[in-house]
Amino acid sequence: MPQQDHKSVRTAGSASSRPGRELLSRGRIARRVAELGDQIAARYDRGELTVLVVLSGAVIFAADLVRRLTVPVRLEFADLHSYPGCSTRSQGIQAGARLPQSLGGRDVLVVDDILDSGQTLGWLLKQVGRQGPRSLSACVLLRKDRADLRRRVEADWVGFDIEDLFVVGYGLDYDNLYRNLGGVHVLEPGQREGAP
Ligand code: IMP
Ligand code: MG
Repeated sequence: MPQQDHKSVRTAGSASSRPGRELLSRGRIARRVAELGDQIAARYDRGELTVLVVLSGAVIFAADLVRRLTVPVRLEFADLHSYPGCSTRSQGIQAGARLPQSLGGRDVLVVDDILDSGQTLGWLLKQVGRQGPRSLSACVLLRKDRADLRRRVEADWVGFDIEDLFVVGYGLDYDNLYRNLGGVHVLEPGQREGAP
């Protein structure tokens, strides 16, 4: 049997057992992802498309989305982390981000799980833009209503606009937990351990 880290077992026992109320059901997400996929497929109806998936939160969304597309898709991954550990507000892009360097001349669609402050998407679009893609667009599953700030970046396709809540499930995590939930759930402040 694999050895388990004591701290992560303890965190899982207290935090993972009770995700909060369901905001978006598995079925509702599936219907919306299909719609988004069909809209994106209509936009990219010839040639090929490079889908740049932001790790790790967008993996499940992107897996469902790309299977609605009809053009040949290249999958690439951007390894970025702006919410280390138990953070619930972006701490800025962390050092060590890894991006593919082969995006010049390609039609690139960035796929992320959620647009919150916009720091992640803004940074990524700038970096990819420097490589000279033929076209560059972005799709996010969720967009948070943040009355406290003005975003400098927008997504071309948005699955759902949601309140400014911390959410988990369908790929989104808290301290790397809950990504496996089929729907999107609210994680209330009392359900988070050690969040700043
Ligand atoms: P931003 O840079 O503030 O827009 O944050 C975007 C990134 O933060 C997303 O790619 C998510 O990984 C993460 N994030 C933002 N809000 C949430 C949330 O409510 N739950 C889980 N992750 C989130
Ligand atoms: Mg992310």
